[in-house]
Amino acid sequence: MAFPKDFIWGAATASYQIEGAALQDGRGECIWTRFSHTPGKVANGDTGDVACDHYHRYPEDVALMRDLGVGAYRFSISWPRVIPAGTGALNPAGLDFYDRLVDSVCAAGITPWATLYHWDLPQALQDRGGWTNPEIVGWFAEYTDVITRRLGDRVKNWFTHNEPFCTAFLGHMMGVHAPGLTDTRATFLAVHHALIAHGEAVPVIRRNVPGAKAGIVLNPSPQLPATDHPEDVRLARRGDAMTNRLFLDAVFKGQYPTDLIEIAGQAVDGIDLGAIQKAAVKCDFLGINYYMRWILAHVPGKPEEAVNRFPPGTEFTAMDWEIYPQGLTDMLTRIHREYGPIDIYVTENGAAFDDPEPNNGVVEDPRRVAYLRGYLAAAQAAIAQGVPLKGYFVWSLLDNFEWAYGYEKRFGIIHVDFQTQKRTPKQSALFYKRLIAGQETLG
Ligand code: FCB
Repeated sequence: MAFPKDFIWGAATASYQIEGAALQDGRGECIWTRFSHTPGKVANGDTGDVACDHYHRYPEDVALMRDLGVGAYRFSISWPRVIPAGTGALNPAGLDFYDRLVDSVCAAGITPWATLYHWDLPQALQDRGGWTNPEIVGWFAEYTDVITRRLGDRVKNWFTHNEPFCTAFLGHMMGVHAPGLTDTRATFLAVHHALIAHGEAVPVIRRNVPGAKAGIVLNPSPQLPATDHPEDVRLARRGDAMTNRLFLDAVFKGQYPTDLIEIAGQAVDGIDLGAIQKAAVKCDFLGINYYMRWILAHVPGKPEEAVNRFPPGTEFTAMDWEIYPQGLTDMLTRIHREYGPIDIYVTENGAAFDDPEPNNGVVEDPRRVAYLRGYLAAAQAAIAQGVPLKGYFVWSLLDNFEWAYGYEKRFGIIHVDFQTQKRTPKQSALFYKRLIAGQETLG
């Protein structure tokens, strides 16, 4: 088995996780600046103020990618760097930064893939209700218009959102991500407006970008019952509705799953649910970020609670996420079967491990190499079963600010020393490089 010749090999990052220069050159405050500066929200009090200092060091990072031989770079744009208050006045220095970045990516022979929203909402818009305010559909269209006009001559591949599930549920229900709310109604409003904003942004991208290709990045995960106990089955079905069908049904069918709406109950009272039809805009591809599966067991006497029960002997990453490559094959084939046909890209996949420090320029990360081997073989298996999977972006190019985990969790194939900003490719980067060059097989 081999990957198709035109298979796209990429690496992915996100603006707030790597750029730093958080309040420099006119960039407005974002919800992660506010959240990470709020005591107790992020491990060790870490913030993205400096991160990988990519804002200044992007030429070095692009050179590292060129050396890896990746054909594509998925990055995201910081909305408040471009429009500091979220709407209205532009920040020329911010636009210039993305110009320089895109030019340097293109000059390295790498195709840029841009994500419009990877969670760094302008704080000024959060102050006006953020994703819970219906006006955000228009604000997002305005931002999309500005940035696609500026970059659309060179950037042809666009994603609207990264993982709207996380925007809504981690940010508005569980409170573990910015803006840190724990409000069920706000969660559903955020889902609703984020998905409609996607639907309204795609035509803006097409209008401004000759030869545009557009889509959204979702993070579906298998939600399985631990046993055939009716309560486990019910929880797995609810998990599937909330994490998978809520988003896939919206963008492919323009409707919400009826079982989820029943669960949401009063929390969605008064919301014009039919408007979700606007989310089902025709796209060129679907991005899938894939990390894990859930095996749900009920807790007697607590109908709302579920615990994860993995088989004995299961291996986990440093995030305590199960390592189970077959889950990726299962998810890709299911999406293709139930929602396809559409080109799919794995827009993120990778793992955090407790890597050793660089030793004479070498970082040994055998578990990450094994992880990548396993998941890439799983991707290959999906292709063999007919899934139009066209590319794979490893998460992540660099160790970076892993949201609520701060700098503790390292997902990079390139090690970053956050004291000195020195970059050291790990063994996994060298493996990826050989694989891309056709010098490595997965076997
Ligand atoms: C995804 C995010 C990405 C990174 C990885 C580990 O949910 O899109 O920014 O945090 O998880």
